[in-house]
Amino acid sequence: MTGPSTARPVSRRGLLTGGALAAGGSLAVAAVLAAARSGEPGVRTGEPVAAARIGEAIEPFHGPRQAGVATEPQAYAAFVALTLRPGTDRAALGRMLRLLTDDAARLTRGRPALADTEPELGLLPARLTVTFGFGPGLYAAAGLDERRPASVAALPSFRVDRLQPRWSGGDLLLQICADDPLTVAHAQRVLVKDSRPFATVRWVQQGFRRGAGVEPGGRTQRNLFGQLDGTANPRPGGPLETAVWVPDGPAWLRESTTLVVRRISMNLETWDLLGRTDRELAVGRRLDTGAPLTGAAEHDVPDFAATGPDGLTVIPDFSHLTRAHVGDDRLKILRRPYNYDGVPTAEGHADSGLIFASYQADVARQFLPIQRRLAERDLLNEWTTPIGSAVFAVPPGCPEGGWIGQQLLG
Ligand code: HEM
Repeated sequence: MTGPSTARPVSRRGLLTGGALAAGGSLAVAAVLAAARSGEPGVRTGEPVAAARIGEAIEPFHGPRQAGVATEPQAYAAFVALTLRPGTDRAALGRMLRLLTDDAARLTRGRPALADTEPELGLLPARLTVTFGFGPGLYAAAGLDERRPASVAALPSFRVDRLQPRWSGGDLLLQICADDPLTVAHAQRVLVKDSRPFATVRWVQQGFRRGAGVEPGGRTQRNLFGQLDGTANPRPGGPLETAVWVPDGPAWLRESTTLVVRRISMNLETWDLLGRTDRELAVGRRLDTGAPLTGAAEHDVPDFAATGPDGLTVIPDFSHLTRAHVGDDRLKILRRPYNYDGVPTAEGHADSGLIFASYQADVARQFLPIQRRLAERDLLNEWTTPIGSAVFAVPPGCPEGGWIGQQLLG
């Protein structure tokens, strides 16, 4: 990149980071900046950026499957977990879900909700999706426990867990995602207001990825450790079909999936103390390209058996990659996480982490074995702590005029 408008920010960043990094850090930063500058086209401040019609984009709400699962992740998300009020029975749940479905469907099309108090805020859907999740308590409230998928239950506790009730559990989840934070906030407000006669708010987790249009579509997102996060996700088509969606069974299960939401705090302060090599060994992938330590490009297949001159495996046996790896396509999980970044402490210590969200046809068969391996041994555990946990069934979608949950409650 050339030109006065880009030269200044780069040198300013260099000044800011140079003194503050641990040994070896500033060299690494210089390498990253050099790599980023070479060959990057760049857009100078003041030059017009191609107008994008991000605000008007629509993700279809209706269909056999709910949107917001296989949907290319939007930039912003709010996960809203509700607790049903006593007395919200099967009939009341039906009334509630009809109302919520109707308003969600309107908003996703860029139409205001039925009794929208700020109708102008409903006009730009920005790929809004609202995905409904049913927690164990919803089946109990409806008197339909026998229809609850067996693994939709609180997860067993793991020794790494430091779970807080304020981030855990929930009877009904509304996962609201869009490429605009105002759209998400408005949808959240509308849907929470709709729910008020039936439920109270248990927790809300708001998260983000890169802004829409900031980089070309299809790129893997980065988490706040700076890692490319999502590389090994099952791709649309084959693996995604078999790993995520329930193919058959009764109507309330067919085309459904399950969602695990874990709030995982990431200790950026101690992560900052690690050199670049150690960071890469902890995960088993490179920070710049996301390539496995045995490969050159992000999607190269990792070679877990390859050894170095010291006789040790190139990808450490306890790296996150080795421990989390799943070879069988049918057992993979679809990770769709969002970053969170709360208010730092007075001393400037970050409150950051990952709203880890994974979809899988069966929690017990797919998610749990991975989580068990990670809890038992994973180098990344040194810097990450699960502080919230919740499991939901994601029921099938609905046709126009139908409502989410109809197959279960109707
Ligand atoms: C803050 C916590 C976590 C961080 C920062 C993190 C980060 C990463 C990164 C950087 C990768 C490599 C690139 C990729 O394929 O996405 C990865 C892979 C993976 N992670 Fe995590 N992860 C976290 C928690 C979890 C949890 C809780 C699970 C499931 C229980 C999990 C399951 C996986 C799986 C299945 C893979 C792909 C492994 C493969 O087959 O190559 N991760 N993670």
